[in-house]
Amino acid sequence: MPNIILVGFMGTGKTVVGQELSRMLDMPLIDTDDVIEEDSGMIISDIFAQCGEPHFRNLESAAVRKVSRLDGLIISAGGGVVIREENVQELKTNGIIFCLSATPEVIWERASSETHRPLLQTENPMQRIRELLAARAPYYARANYTIDTSGKTVPDIATEIATIFHSVTKG
Ligand code: S3P
Repeated sequence: MPNIILVGFMGTGKTVVGQELSRMLDMPLIDTDDVIEEDSGMIISDIFAQCGEPHFRNLESAAVRKVSRLDGLIISAGGGVVIREENVQELKTNGIIFCLSATPEVIWERASSETHRPLLQTENPMQRIRELLAARAPYYARANYTIDTSGKTVPDIATEIATIFHSVTKG
């Protein structure tokens, strides 16, 4: 069975939707950030601070290669995974990519209470969110499906994804 891959900007709900899908479909959930932290023995913010973003991106590509060899998983991918074409190709070989989308306001509302995202630890995070979203838009468009999360509950979003997944895999 192919993997269900969740991509999308930080704060679009990949983790909670992944947890809901995992329960709903009885498929294990794996998060690329967790794989990176386990394999490197470092937390994401320390990797950024001590080794820099390019090194983090290399670890992320290694994590993508690792999880893409498995099947029947819900894979929640870090928000920047799509910026490397090789990652998208790798994930698509054995999975269907769903991109969760949300407005900058909703993203900021969800992310503002958290401190674990190094890319948002800036003077003007709202501006940073807008810039990154604009720069990444063409990459997120590489997903097989885009799911607008505005105004929807987590179970609604998970049901929408599960319905598409079933129609594609059984059709
Ligand atoms: C990142 C998103 C984060 C994490 C890292 C970089 C990004 O994952 O991989 O902080 O570049 O958008 P989440 O989207 O799960 O927060």
